[in-house]
Amino acid sequence: MLSLKEIGLKYPTNKNDYGFLDIYEKYFKDLREKKLNILEIGVDKGDSLRLWKEYFFNSEICGIDIDKKDFTIQDVKIYQGDQNDKTLLDKIAKKHGKFDIIIDDGSHVSKHIINSFNYLFDHLSKNGIYIVEDLQTSYIPRYGGSRINLIKKNSSMNFFKSLSDSVNYENFDRPFFKKKRFDGLIESVHFYQNIVFIFKGESKKYFHPNVKKKLLDRLKKIISFLFR
Ligand SMILES: C[S@@+](CC[C@H](N)C(=O)[O-])C[C@H]1O[C@@H](n2cnc3c(N)ncnc32)[C@H](O)[C@@H]1O
Repeated sequence: MLSLKEIGLKYPTNKNDYGFLDIYEKYFKDLREKKLNILEIGVDKGDSLRLWKEYFFNSEICGIDIDKKDFTIQDVKIYQGDQNDKTLLDKIAKKHGKFDIIIDDGSHVSKHIINSFNYLFDHLSKNGIYIVEDLQTSYIPRYGGSRINLIKKNSSMNFFKSLSDSVNYENFDRPFFKKKRFDGLIESVHFYQNIVFIFKGESKKYFHPNVKKKLLDRLKKIISFLFR
């Protein structure tokens, strides 16, 4: 069987030029023969969809692009639409079921990347993987990023960096703490140059029950002291 990189040479996707295929192969080689449901945002000439179809030969592949495509790919469904269109994304997910792998190689605009992640996270399977390519755009102002202000709110990189706090949320899950959207729902976030892999899955509970119990006991003592 050809490796992902070898298949990549047949289809001129720029995923090979940026070294992404080596990284993908690390995560995908054990999943290769499974029957997965895969969505890619950003179709362009269809080369990456052809690549995924050949590599994941048992899987269902679909793609979405803002532009209408005048070609078809056998056994691959291509939708026309905007990655910011929640109704359309919900409709596609309803038709295909939960996705095991979602790849965002669309507009690369921070706002769009974050919108799609927010909309599609619930449509990602329990242990699904969400990947965002070309994060160099997070340092480019016209894509909503900055190379000067590295803590710029709402840049794609800072959004994904914030997910690492959601992995560790039990450290600040104190009485009266209000969970944020992704707290406890992300197992890990792996950054590589210009690409991130987000692994959905429950964060492990290591010391949280003890810490919470101790704090509650302390609180009860204070309350009973005040109202004695
Ligand atoms: C980098 S190309 C995709 C390349 C392709 N994945 C590959 O590896 O061969 C980006 C694509 O995203 C599409 N795109 C741009 N803005 C979009 C949006 N808001 N929603 C969906 N697709 C978008 C563009 O039309 C373009 O075809």
